[in-house]
Amino acid sequence: MQLLVTGGLGFIGSNLIRYILKNHPDYSIINLDAVTYAGHPENLADLASDKRLINVKGRIEDTKLVNEIVSGKLYGPVHGVINVAAETHVDRSISDPEVFVQTNVMGTQVLLEAAFEHGQRNTKNNAPIRFVQVSTDEVYGSLGPTGFFTEETPLQPSSPYSSTKTGADLLCRAYFHTYGLPVVITRCSNNYGPYQHPEKLIPLFISRLMNNQQVPVYGDGLNVRDWLHVEDHCQAIDLAFHKGVPGEVYNVGGNNERTNMQITKLLLSELGKGEDMIKYVEDRLGHDRRYAIDSSKIRRELGWSPVHTFETGIHETIDWYKKNQNWMAAVSKQATFVAQNVQAAAVR
Ligand SMILES: NC(=O)c1ccc[n+]([C@@H]2O[C@H](COP(=O)([O-])OP(=O)(O)OC[C@H]3O[C@@H](n4cnc5c(N)ncnc54)[C@H](O)[C@@H]3O)[C@@H](O)[C@H]2O)c1
Repeated sequence: MQLLVTGGLGFIGSNLIRYILKNHPDYSIINLDAVTYAGHPENLADLASDKRLINVKGRIEDTKLVNEIVSGKLYGPVHGVINVAAETHVDRSISDPEVFVQTNVMGTQVLLEAAFEHGQRNTKNNAPIRFVQVSTDEVYGSLGPTGFFTEETPLQPSSPYSSTKTGADLLCRAYFHTYGLPVVITRCSNNYGPYQHPEKLIPLFISRLMNNQQVPVYGDGLNVRDWLHVEDHCQAIDLAFHKGVPGEVYNVGGNNERTNMQITKLLLSELGKGEDMIKYVEDRLGHDRRYAIDSSKIRRELGWSPVHTFETGIHETIDWYKKNQNWMAAVSKQATFVAQNVQAAAVR
């Protein structure tokens, strides 16, 4: 079995590739990644000599390249597509939404069309290509103090990021209903774990605290997120790919609701710092108050259950970032370089 995984140099993509190759030793993977500021070859350095992995630099909205890959012309037959690639940072989507539409909406459509074209439309090769769209709980919008997102919760995204992820989900739905493409969607809560870009809360705060810098907390710090270890998310994606019912959506969450302030205080305590290191900053525009996931469907129907508890998982994660300062420095440097170049281009 050969899979096309997109966005494999990012946080979840790199963990997913590692998870699949470990759990399915006879699989091979083509990783298509644009190597944006968020994509880091270092994230897969341990697999550099693994013959089962082919890394391709390219964009998912590049129709020609995607077709050449999915048709099998470049690297042999593709039996499944797992779309992890995305622009993912909410703050960036507020200041520059356009690239979010290109990658998250247009890129997903290009992948869906290629999977349909080379799996079903071409009758000579009538072997449907299974497709998993890795989506997010943010498509549901924000919750009040009680209740959970179920798969039936209306889609009410708040940010340009979550709107474009919603657009992609709806295209997946259309490709299933209109063309019969076997698409499964997963919608997961906030992930933590190794290889997360240091612009995101947990690695950012660890890195700043280790450098004796204050950590910026939005608003009153009481926004609630449901945290799940990235390997548990990877297990859910793997199950969705192999056992998910085409056309279905599966919510994935850890039942680990924490306010941003609780996470901040945990990190302060683990790194031996006091609350004077907290700097309150103006709240993010349109900041969703609370996310919480009901993941009973994937537990019941696909047999998913997380193996990491939050208490041990977060401790191991903090340890990983402490021990991987070189990775942190390399990744931060690449991101700064890309950001500077983008800025320079904008000035011209
Ligand atoms: N991180 C979370 O907590 C979380 C939770 C739920 C769902 N998700 C979803 O999981 C997916 C991955 O998230 P992440 O946190 O790993 O993101 P990330 O930002 O760490 O990685 C994104 C990857 O996609 C690549 N990429 C970006 N644009 C591309 C393009 N046009 N073509 C090809 N590659 C491109 C980047 O180079 C990078 O390697 C996203 O779809 C996101 O919506 C993330």
